[in-house]
Amino acid sequence: MRILVTGGAGYIGSHTVVELQNAGHEPIVLDNLYNASEKVIGRIEAITGRKVPFYKADIRDEEALNQIFDKEKPEAVIHFAGLKAVGESVQKPWEYYENNIGGTLHLLKVMKEHGCKNIIFSSSATVYGDPAFVPITEECPKGTCTNPYGWTKWMQEQILTDLHTADPEWNVILLRYFNPIGAHKSGTMGENPNGIPNNLMPYITQVAVGKLAKLHVFGNDYDTPDGTGVRDYIHVVDLARGHVCAMQKLAPGSGVNIYNLGTGHGYSVLDIVKNFEAATGKTIPYVIDKRRAGDIATCYCDASKAERELGWKAENGIREMCEDSWRWQSQNPNGYDD
Ligand code: NAD
Ligand code: WQD
Repeated sequence: MRILVTGGAGYIGSHTVVELQNAGHEPIVLDNLYNASEKVIGRIEAITGRKVPFYKADIRDEEALNQIFDKEKPEAVIHFAGLKAVGESVQKPWEYYENNIGGTLHLLKVMKEHGCKNIIFSSSATVYGDPAFVPITEECPKGTCTNPYGWTKWMQEQILTDLHTADPEWNVILLRYFNPIGAHKSGTMGENPNGIPNNLMPYITQVAVGKLAKLHVFGNDYDTPDGTGVRDYIHVVDLARGHVCAMQKLAPGSGVNIYNLGTGHGYSVLDIVKNFEAATGKTIPYVIDKRRAGDIATCYCDASKAERELGWKAENGIREMCEDSWRWQSQNPNGYDD
């Protein structure tokens, strides 16, 4: 299938483009390169041995979108494009609402005008807020988000759902990702954060490579087995495969479907440190710091709906996640920058 991948040069998007090509689809990448490097396209092509059409374009630019839709005639869209830094969203709420929600509205308008009403959307476990229960099933009510980034995901889900209510020709899949980490096995593609990483794994790998002195563990007084926050980490390649499986579900009349994509296992911050050390032989010095505002104690999912309905299950365990994150970071200490 011809699939437009917005944000396809980013971390999750680039891995998804590889898996789509491997599965015989024809992905077309659109990205404004705000948080990505064009070099990714060459890395994707080196892995798959196939060309990827790439457009440096912004989803808020309807003229550019129209031209791409006219030329490429995608049958479906996987929509990754957006801003994703939680802390930054608190400082710059307007930019987050304008880019994520404004951008999505422009994209949906152009899709509709071109008769393309199939969309897979990158949502997040953040829509559950402090979850009503764990493991989190898709029936768990959406919660109160603690930051504008989370609200953009919450509202984008609602917008897509309302669109289908008004026009059942829309087929919508909302994929709620848990905590993606890891990198492509080749060590040539991975996460490339700007500045000091906000997320745990890129912070750890930058400590391991010597760019940062030590990890700051945000709180050890949570109600968890060792007091540090527990999350459901998922290998980015498993997550990418989840999109390929979801494509099959995107059939006429399929409506709005929601899936958690995680492993169903919770690991604490200190579990991750220990597993990273065991997988890589590196030592990660750390200090216990105060809690980070907006953090919750525990978040992990029940991923059985995706297994039942999509035939998808995460295959990589925590060891592979740590090994692959490290292979990427150690081979590319400056990410895609030379
Ligand atoms: P990323 O920043 O690596 O990828 C997003 C891409 O979108 C970037 O390449 C960026 O340049 C592009 N982009 C941003 N605004 C754009 C615009 N207006 N027009 C065109 N391109 C634009 O992030 P990621 O980690 O790959 O995340 C992909 C998606 O998954 C995002 O929507 C994110 O919110 C969501 N998500 C990520 C995580 C996570 O922990 N990484 C978890 C849950 C959900
Ligand atoms: C994981 C654990 C931290 C950094 C975020 C977004 C969420 C989703 C995924 C997009 C927590 C602890 C972290 C550090 C630490 N993204 N930690 N020291 O917060 O679960 O989720 O990314 O949708 O919306 O909120 O991920 O990797 O930031 O944190 O101790 O330097 O590691 O407190 O317990 P989080 P994370």
